[in-house]
This record gives sequence, C-alpha cells and structure tokens, in this order.
Amino acid sequence: MGTPATLKVLTPTRIDGLSLRNRIIRTAAFEGMCRGGVPSDALRDHHAALAQGGVAMTTVAYCSVSEDGRTYGHQMWMREAIVPALRGITDAVHAGGAAASIQLGHCGYFASSKVTGERPIAPSRALNLYGLSFSRPMTGADMTRVAADFARSARLAAEAGFDAVELHAGHGYLLSQFLSPFTNRRVDEHGGSLENRLRFPLAVLGAVRDSLGPEFPVIVKMNLEDGFDGGLEIDEAVQAARAFEEGGASALVASGGFVSKTPFYMMRGNVPVLEMVKGQDSWVRQVGLFLFGRIFVQTYPYEDLFFLDKARLVRAAVRIPVVLVGGVTSVAGMERAMSEGFELVAVGRALVKEPDLVARLARGEWQASDCDHCNRCVAEMDRGGVRCVCLDSDV
Ligand SMILES: Cc1cc2nc3c(=O)[nH]c(=O)nc-3n(C[C@H](O)[C@H](O)[C@H](O)COP(=O)(O)O)c2cc1C
Repeated sequence: MGTPATLKVLTPTRIDGLSLRNRIIRTAAFEGMCRGGVPSDALRDHHAALAQGGVAMTTVAYCSVSEDGRTYGHQMWMREAIVPALRGITDAVHAGGAAASIQLGHCGYFASSKVTGERPIAPSRALNLYGLSFSRPMTGADMTRVAADFARSARLAAEAGFDAVELHAGHGYLLSQFLSPFTNRRVDEHGGSLENRLRFPLAVLGAVRDSLGPEFPVIVKMNLEDGFDGGLEIDEAVQAARAFEEGGASALVASGGFVSKTPFYMMRGNVPVLEMVKGQDSWVRQVGLFLFGRIFVQTYPYEDLFFLDKARLVRAAVRIPVVLVGGVTSVAGMERAMSEGFELVAVGRALVKEPDLVARLARGEWQASDCDHCNRCVAEMDRGGVRCVCLDSDV
C-alpha cells in the first residue's frame, strides 16, 4: 500500500484553474444546517472542520437555485441575502487550507408546495408525495427562468468566494428528471431521444459556463444509472458524460440513484426507517413512512467502491477529471481509484464520522473507516444536522 509519501491520492491536482492540495473531496452530503433557508454558524463550523481535517475541497450541499426548488424549509436557496453567510463559510474553509465548492440544484417534481407555496415544476406531470399534488410540465419560459436561476446562483456563489460549483444533474433532481426516460415523457424537443433529454441540462450548463467564464471549475454530478427499470442506464450515461464534457463541464462526479424512488441506491447499506420517521415534520408523513417505508425504500447491500464498474466506463469516455464516489472508505480503495485512472475521489459518510481522516492518513495514522453504513446520519439531516450517531457514547 505504500507510505503516505508515496500515495497518489495525497498528491496535488487541478480542476481547470483550481489547484487542490490532494485528491480527496468531501462529497455533497446535505447538512440540514440552514434553518429558514439561511446558512448557520454550525454549517460554517462543519466545513471548517473538514478543511482543517485535510480534505482538498469540501462541498456545501444542497443549495437550490430558486425558492421553488426545495423540498424542506431548512434547505437554502441562493440569493443576495445569504452571500455574507456563505462568505463566512468560504473564508473558514480557505483558512483551513481547502477549496470550497457548492452544490446547486432544483428538486423539480419533488419540491414541496407546502414549503414553496407553488405547484412543483418538472419535465412532465408526476405525483408529488411531499405535497400530495401533481407537478406541472415546464414551459419554455420556465426553462429559460430556471437556466437563468442556475447562472445567477453560480455568479453569487463565485461572489461568495466558492472556488467551484457543482451542478446537481443526478439523484433524480430536476436536471436528472430531464435525463431520465422515467420522469421525462415529453413529446417536444426536450423529450424522447437522449439528445432531446439532454437539451435542457446542457442549456443550464451553458448558461452557468457563460456566467462564470471559461476558467471557473464547473463540476457536474450525474447518474451512471437511476437504479430501476425504465430509468437512465449506463450506455446513455456514458453519452451524457461526453455531452457534458463538450458542453463545458470541468469534471464529473459519477453517482447513481433517484431520491424519490431508489434513495439508498446512492449509499447502500441499512435503511434507518425508524430514525427517518422521527425526523418527519408532520404526523401524516410519519405514519406513511412507518407503514410503507420498508416496502417502498429498498435496501441495497453495501460494498466498497460500489460504483466502480460503471464509473470506469465514464472514465474511459471523457478526458476531463472524473471523481469516484460511493464506498470510498480506505487508503486501499483510494489508491485503487487512482490506479483505475480517476483523478479524484469523493467521500461522504466516512468523513461525517471522521472529518480529520485525511490529515490522519497523511500522518500514517489512518488506513480505513469503521463506518458501518447504518445510514442513521441520513436521518440526522432532518433532526438538527448531519452527524454520526455511532459516536454517541450511549448508542
Ligand atoms: C447524510 C447524507 C446526505 C447526502 N446528501 C446529498 C446531497 O445533498 N447531494 C448529493 O448529491 N448527494 C448527497 N448524498 C450522497 C453522497 O454525496 C454520496 O454520493 C453517497 O453518500 C455515497 O458516498 P459514501 O459512500 O462516501 O457515503 C448524501 C449522503 C449522505 C450520507
């Protein structure tokens, strides 16, 4: 395995003009630390700890590009008023020696009308379980507005000191809803062929690229597969990856799964139904999740590097850096990713448990995470903020 001095994952790299001190990114993992949609001091401290703990770049998670792109009231949406709070986060991350990225997205059909006060928008009409309503198919004017919201949000992120933006085009969020044949049943130039389904996501990428200029890192998080029959499959994902590269993406994060259908496909391991029930804000949702959670929320067995096989195909198809995510939990796994040609790895749960694992790895004191994929950290997002409950002495 080699000593820290010989590990490739600890060597510097670049994404476009951005220098990174090593190749380990904290992946976007929604923190649940934005009560009222406003980034809190806890969110700043969370990312400051990751920066001090040695990651090359940390990703502030789910920032909606508009108020109507949210499922929860504690999700932030990008606006001038939160730029000072975001600046506090980027300053703290930079002080810790890391770069800062922010994930920009829109929930599409699973935005909650109770939170946003509006009917959700999506490529096609779809049942929204959060508000028990149907989404409204987007018009051309909606698409123009949302693309402009992405571009405006990206500009504000740069103004707030972020070094990169990550466009969320995976996990069943709006751009992924356009890509997926399951949620995109349009019969116009935005539906049908992959070329058509890519038209809006590429328009968004183009608008963001235009707003930030050619050098600013624009990362696209995309699905290798949605994880169910009728969803996006790997052969189309490979073509989408090429299209994102041609459309100006600086790097790709290769993930999978659909939060409204296969939420644990992107994580694998235990489904913490009881903990998730406790995190719901209405008794209707609590009862529904309790009764049907185990039926509708499928379990997928955990294995290390669970997206490697499919991500390899995307790696081979593009020249830009590809970030491997999903079960990267050991030095051996990180070095395996490097030997497979991935420029970077992204880590979620292991860093929730041990924010300083990179610094300890560099000192030769860390070989592997003992995170057991209980996934109770996921339920914590809605119960005050993401954290590893296994660290509680009484658990
Ligand atoms: C608590 C938690 C919150 C997450 N929130 C997001 C999110 O907001 N956006 C996103 O793209 N992925 C999210 N994910 C998925 C992670 O980015 C990552 O793809 C997944 O956890 C697999 O990586 P890991 O095995 O290193 O944890 C989340 C994961 C966890 C555990």
